[in-house]
Amino acid sequence: MTEIKNDRYLRALLKQPVDYTPVWMMRQAGRYLPEYREVRAQAGDFMSLCRDADLASEVTLQPLRRFPLDAAILFSDILTIPDAMGLGLHFVAGEGPKFALPIQRKADVLNLPTPDPEGELQYVMNAVRQIRKDLQGEVPLIGFSGSPWTLATYMIEGGPSKAFTKIKKMMYAEPATLHLLLDKLADSVIDYLNAQIKAGAQSVMVFDTWGGVLTPKDYQDFSLQYMHKIVDGLIRENEGRRVPVTLFTKNGGMWLEKIVATGCDAVGLDWTINISDAKARVGDKVTLQGNMDPSILYASPERIRQEVGSILDDYGHDDTGHVFNLGHGIHLDVPPDNAGVFVDAVHELSKPYHKSSV
Ligand code: CP3
Repeated sequence: MTEIKNDRYLRALLKQPVDYTPVWMMRQAGRYLPEYREVRAQAGDFMSLCRDADLASEVTLQPLRRFPLDAAILFSDILTIPDAMGLGLHFVAGEGPKFALPIQRKADVLNLPTPDPEGELQYVMNAVRQIRKDLQGEVPLIGFSGSPWTLATYMIEGGPSKAFTKIKKMMYAEPATLHLLLDKLADSVIDYLNAQIKAGAQSVMVFDTWGGVLTPKDYQDFSLQYMHKIVDGLIRENEGRRVPVTLFTKNGGMWLEKIVATGCDAVGLDWTINISDAKARVGDKVTLQGNMDPSILYASPERIRQEVGSILDDYGHDDTGHVFNLGHGIHLDVPPDNAGVFVDAVHELSKPYHKSSV
């Protein structure tokens, strides 16, 4: 078993006791950090940054140099898979990700290749290997992917969307075509995450950013079913340790029990659910990750500490089972010092809630 100096994040995911609540932030590497903006300018554009293992590792480690975070997350994007399938990913300033060749009909789905993780996506695995080397065992490395449903929204809409009319039209007019796409994506995600694990990712997280726009029945059939397939297909042990899997459906609080039934180790929560209610519903079956509204990071240090304290209090006196995080990604105009206040507050204020603390 390879040694990890601070393994509280992995221990909490496996419901083993820890002396304080581990914390990391979704999108902890990114544009709110001036040092990120500098490296990104050097790389030229976002995808060139992702494709350069040394630079991807550098920006992964930047937030860890500033803040005592308990985990690192691979610097990459969920849209690497559709890009590797040939859809032509590019980023338009102010508009976000766009695909030159969105999926429109059944033939487009039939023609989609399954990318080879050590072929077209090898740059991601090279980044994982480089980050593991550069981390020197300080904290665990998280690998990630988008959920099939969330990837399909971008592939069919051609970019970000508010109403999701194109994918919903396919869902109701041509459900078999959408299922074919989601099943292909689930297979690609399994290959991709297993390759990340073999390359050195010590836990993995599936981002289902848009599952919450579905009806309960459609969530089950078009999103959760495929995440369940992914959980079933993942390598669950590597380097002599269990590799925990976290599922995060934004706005998915009403479906917690169903998410737990996939066999995942942890569920990510956004801020629309109280963590004490979530805990009452899932018992000790899974770890909960979350769930401060990232907008609180605009507030004063006192207000940030107060919110952290109230979430810790809601989770209660329990030695394990909570990984602190924001309920979604950090906003790009948050002052970095406020992120530092947040991380320090979690460590300091959580100690009294853990028996094993001294
Ligand atoms: O968390 C981390 O620090 C790791 C890196 C990470 C990025 N994207 C880097 C990134 C992760 C985990 C993601 C996941 C991701 N990407 C999701 C799921 C999580 C979520 O936020 O819901 C989604 C939906 C995407 C798709 C995507 N990629 C969007 C909507 C954008 C923003 C576009 C924009 O210009 O605002 C991206 C680009 C992106 N991914 C950036 C970063 C740091 C910004 C790129 C830049 O530097 O210009």
